[in-house]
Amino acid sequence: ADDALIVFTPSGRRGRFPLGTPVLQAARSLGVDIDSVCGGRGICGRCQVTQAEGEFAKHGIVSAADHLSAFGVVEEKYQRLRGLQDGRRLSCSTQILGDVVIDVPETSQVHRQVVRKAVEAVDIELDAAVRLHYVEVAEPDMHLPASDQRRLLDALEREWGLKDLACDLSLTQSLQPVLRKGGWAVTAAVYDEREVVAVWPGLKETVYGMAVDVGSTTVAAHLCDLSTGEVVASVGRMNPQIRFGEDLMSRVSYIMMNPGGEIDQTAAVREALNELAAQAAAEAGIEVTDILDVTLVGNPVMHHLLLGINPVELGGAPFALATDQATALRASELELKLNPGARAYVLPCIAGHVGADTAGVILAERPDQGETLTALVDVGTNAEIVLGNRERLLACSSPTGPAFEGAQICCGQRAAPGAIERVRIDPTTLEPRFRVIGCDLWSDQPGFAEATAQIGVTGICGSGIIEVLAELFLARVIKADGTIDGAMAAVSPRVRPEGVTFAYDLRLGAQQITIYQTDVRAIQLAKAALQAGIRLLMERMGVDAVQRIRLAGAFGSHIDVKYATVLGMLPDCELSNVSSAGNAAGTGARIALLDKRKRGEIEALVRRVEKIETAIEPNFQAQFVEAMAIPHRSAPYPHLAQ
Ligand code: FES
Repeated sequence: ADDALIVFTPSGRRGRFPLGTPVLQAARSLGVDIDSVCGGRGICGRCQVTQAEGEFAKHGIVSAADHLSAFGVVEEKYQRLRGLQDGRRLSCSTQILGDVVIDVPETSQVHRQVVRKAVEAVDIELDAAVRLHYVEVAEPDMHLPASDQRRLLDALEREWGLKDLACDLSLTQSLQPVLRKGGWAVTAAVYDEREVVAVWPGLKETVYGMAVDVGSTTVAAHLCDLSTGEVVASVGRMNPQIRFGEDLMSRVSYIMMNPGGEIDQTAAVREALNELAAQAAAEAGIEVTDILDVTLVGNPVMHHLLLGINPVELGGAPFALATDQATALRASELELKLNPGARAYVLPCIAGHVGADTAGVILAERPDQGETLTALVDVGTNAEIVLGNRERLLACSSPTGPAFEGAQICCGQRAAPGAIERVRIDPTTLEPRFRVIGCDLWSDQPGFAEATAQIGVTGICGSGIIEVLAELFLARVIKADGTIDGAMAAVSPRVRPEGVTFAYDLRLGAQQITIYQTDVRAIQLAKAALQAGIRLLMERMGVDAVQRIRLAGAFGSHIDVKYATVLGMLPDCELSNVSSAGNAAGTGARIALLDKRKRGEIEALVRRVEKIETAIEPNFQAQFVEAMAIPHRSAPYPHLAQ
């Protein structure tokens, strides 16, 4: 026969091709996913395959001989230069010589799976919006007048089948010198198969994208290799808008009182993004101009300020968003100093207090893909809550205030070295032991004093407050209505009168740390708001229990879910089904960065979300009052009893 059977694994696609057909060409015609930047010239090394020998019988192919052509000259050079793995061949430069089974390794697939972190709920599949295409452009010819850009577009159509591409002006501005420098061989970056956004002389192998979570306290960015999905640098910094106000509402009031203040806050956050991009690029050893795509999430106020929209309407009822659509734009429109052709995509907001960060959480967790009734809870100054499953998705936000972050608590502080983060209280003697951030020892272990001599014991962070209050409740020092029980003063001198109420001395000595009645009240108000928000959604959904709770954000990854439940921050749930989702909003941004199809999916999903406004919901107040009790006035907690 003068043709041969070729089978590709793992896809299982098969077909007959004339002997001598390049493997990549056969793969293309069968729709097998094999990556390529150089278009089959044997120089990019993306198209590697192996001849799968053990698979022969399975696919009805009996010949075990080497039915692929040997490496060509180009490949030998390639192998020397880049260390092609043993047994691997470049499919573009390897021909079929007989029946053969070809294995396409994961690393050679365009739509490969990205290695994910254990805490992330979904796999990320790679399908970046920006792809690189190496082309050889025809030289200019007086007899065939066509512009440089026209001949570039012709080459992209001829070699890659990309039709009717638009060109970014920044590309046109740099095109002529780049074409000449590359000797008419260039690599073009094409955005969404629609527009050429950048061009480099010769072969450009990798470009990068940045996924950013613009938090009101911290801005965090992941720099990702767009060809592998790998995170090559992760950086973060304080949001410099903090100088306009610690929390969101004080930043909005700053704008109300200082006309034009929104311009300063927009400039501040954009400046921070540029610093993060420069820092991430330096860490990864790349140029900022290698960054071609950025995705961003943030709460509604952050979202508006980032886009240069005055957020004052979000400062009061009826909390109207300027837009609830996703925003796709040039990164330069956000004053980002990346590649001049770089694009940006801002995920959509959902409602006045439910932002693009929650859209990111939904994208990371995909509660809509299963039957399990899941509550997604992102605790910040506002808790953003989503409840639902395949059938329905509900969302609301609840004004928890900053108490969970250690604000409004006498001895409260941000999570930093020296802050108490774990607490145990002996139920008989009421003696406490605790651990601080930055030291692995418990306070009653030998060496604790020496180990903390440098950092000190400076206060209690959010997770520490939850634990100390829950432990005091379990030790009956705090009653179900939240009062510190003065009768317990008879048990331990740590419980003592303080004005008309009582207090508990967690730590005596130079850096005394005391829990006051006002601290308990502040946490009660915050936790009641959180639980009332969740219960309001449960009520709307017509259920009296949730099957699974995922806690997003930094706070969620630090608190002990048992204590959060004991205190009644959360409704009752099987404790093993309550877990941290890590920085789910940031993960959502990364998913939207690496898989462009997910952008359309989250836009459609967000439109399906039913928004509940807690501020006008009459039942919210009733739920709130019930949830003030520890853990709740009426709802049972069967899973705690176990
Ligand atoms: Fe580039 Fe084969 S496609 S080396």
